[in-house]
Amino acid sequence: MPTENNREDVLSFYTEIEESGGECIGFGNYKEYDLWLSGMQKRFAGKDLPEGYVRENFYLCYDKEILIGVFSLKFTLIQSLLNFGGHIGYAVRPSERNQGWAIQILKQGLTPAKQFNFDRVLCVCDEDNYGSEKVILKNGGVLENTLYDPDEKVVVKRYWIHL
Ligand SMILES: CC(C)(COP(=O)(O)OP(=O)(O)OC[C@H]1O[C@@H](n2cnc3c(N)ncnc32)[C@H](O)[C@@H]1OP(=O)(O)O)[C@@H](O)C(=O)NCCC(=O)NCCS
Repeated sequence: MPTENNREDVLSFYTEIEESGGECIGFGNYKEYDLWLSGMQKRFAGKDLPEGYVRENFYLCYDKEILIGVFSLKFTLIQSLLNFGGHIGYAVRPSERNQGWAIQILKQGLTPAKQFNFDRVLCVCDEDNYGSEKVILKNGGVLENTLYDPDEKVVVKRYWIHL
């Protein structure tokens, strides 16, 4: 869970994501770190959440001193998450990609999921996100189906990982 101490690392992580032309989980209003942090704390507590948000644990993943990735575990599958979002989210900073980090991050993220008594978790990726699909498959994902997301105008693949 991020704290005040992670301010510079979080800013640098999301700036790198932004400069690479992307967005990812936890991006939000990261530039206003105090607001961002209080939003994350509310999600963690599952209290005072904006509509459409559910309780969520958000993890910063470090290799030594470097924030290499982020991981999130959501606790309730409201309809939009059941269809298109899933329980799990992750991202790796662009300069650290293709070194196996995402496979490790998801693997390690399954441990808290087990501790919170999940018996399976839903991972959803865009049909053409081959990297993410590989990460899910390497962690034992079993395809349930593909669905069209009319808001994002993409086809998604829905995988369950049994714990
Ligand atoms: C998807 C993402 C998390 C992968 O992170 P990563 O650390 O580069 O992934 P890994 O190094 O663990 O690689 C996983 C596997 O996918 C492969 N892979 C990675 N990117 C790929 C791509 N664009 N196309 C095809 N395969 C790819 C890797 O070669 C590796 O396979 P291997 O073990 O057989 O060599 C990263 O690209 C990212 O953060 N993307 C933006 C956010 C995102 O899409 N999150 C997932 C939302 S569902």
